[in-house]
Amino acid sequence: MAKARTTGFFCKECGYESSKWMGQCPACREWNTFVEAPAASGGRKAGGARAAALGGNRPVKLSQIESSAEERTGTGMEELDRVLGGGLVSGSLILVGGDPGIGKSTLLLQVCRNLARDGKRVLYISGEESARQIKLRADRLGEFSGELSFLCETDLDQISRIIEEEKPEIAVVDSIQTMYREGVDSAPGSVGQVRESTNFLLQIAKGKGITIFIVGHVTKEGTVAGPRMLEHMVDTVLYFEGEKNVPYRILRGVKNRFGSTNEIGVFEMGGEGLIQVPNPSEYMLSGKPEGASGSVTACAIEGTRPMLLEIQALVCRTNFGMPRRTAAGTDYNRVNLLIAVLEKRAGLHLSDCDAYVNIAGGLRISEPSLDLGIVMALASSFRDVPVDDGTLVFGEVGLSGEVRAVSMAEKRVQEAAKLGFSTCILPQVCLERIRQPVKGIRLVGVRNVREAIEYIGRG
Ligand code: TYD
Ligand code: MG
Repeated sequence: MAKARTTGFFCKECGYESSKWMGQCPACREWNTFVEAPAASGGRKAGGARAAALGGNRPVKLSQIESSAEERTGTGMEELDRVLGGGLVSGSLILVGGDPGIGKSTLLLQVCRNLARDGKRVLYISGEESARQIKLRADRLGEFSGELSFLCETDLDQISRIIEEEKPEIAVVDSIQTMYREGVDSAPGSVGQVRESTNFLLQIAKGKGITIFIVGHVTKEGTVAGPRMLEHMVDTVLYFEGEKNVPYRILRGVKNRFGSTNEIGVFEMGGEGLIQVPNPSEYMLSGKPEGASGSVTACAIEGTRPMLLEIQALVCRTNFGMPRRTAAGTDYNRVNLLIAVLEKRAGLHLSDCDAYVNIAGGLRISEPSLDLGIVMALASSFRDVPVDDGTLVFGEVGLSGEVRAVSMAEKRVQEAAKLGFSTCILPQVCLERIRQPVKGIRLVGVRNVREAIEYIGRG
């Protein structure tokens, strides 16, 4: 057999191509990510496939293009529909990425169930699990009805034939790392295969108007090609995030040709699959202790949605020379900076204290608007005086101890009022910009950290 021809090398993280091997990728700065790229059969043609599928290569006047609104199909999960920009667009290719075990297969199986129940023809193709394993999972998720077929196959040419026969409207390919095409001289999961497979699925999706979900595992190391380099090939990229031992999950749009990428969907992994969390604030605050010092409610914006959360701080005298500082769920350096601001601008002697900061609920957020909340939590724990439970705090803190404006102040205040908070401490600048008074909530504008911590212990 002739030795496989190679076209060069490319970075398996970002897809950067080069004619020679390099230790560090000049595009994404990752080390040791270059792999040899086998010459893909028909690789040349692949690029043109999209153009051909989209209707030829003649230029068209913008004014002559009909702008009919795309038809959207609801997935039966509002949290997902919102991230997609209002539902599925037929003929689109959607990549769902995330760490192994985070719940991608579970989410898509639930979506398939909903679509099948609405009378759509759905095909779930798994290269990872046997039909029996899928059945076991499906049994955990509850009742299945309608036109949902399963296929355990990894050969894409065979899959293509079956799609031809079955004519599904929606297909799921779980996962792209297990798929292969005959004729590409590399193992499934390698860059060449993953790229070629995605291209092939793209042709099917565009050519036949089928919506295809592709599952992609993201791994930091290992031989599996990360789906990062697929991002420019697909229409929509969603990332499913979360910590393994925390039940809540966030579905984030990273790229979307049919909608905004500012939206997130919140889910909770339960015993019977994923449950939508339409009101994340309530969920995040559900375990907040009452009347405890060092606990402050803050407000972050996820996408375009305000989300209330609890910031906890514990400050205690250090037993060793070097004070310990930790930050769970937020930026460690930012916390150190805020401690320095408190020391210098508000006169709190924190230099001989250990300080631990935690965002409750396993959330991971580093948004400047949490600064004031972190500062208040630290000061409250330092003095051992609780912040009133009905108080919400947000604002960015600068190095001079000034409290700076943050975006969407009105939205944050409204969310707080909706959840029954009686007081909101916010930057003075934001207070001046709020035009309509929000009912049932007292707004307290602060200019600097000193003013803010005076409110600790007041109702
Ligand atoms: P899975 O969807 O297989 O993850 P992925 O496809 O992203 O690799 O999810 C697997 C995890 O979810 C597994 O650890 C078990 C858990 N799980 C539940 O907690 N409840 C459930 O109802 C199901 C189906 C799974
Ligand atoms: Mg899976």
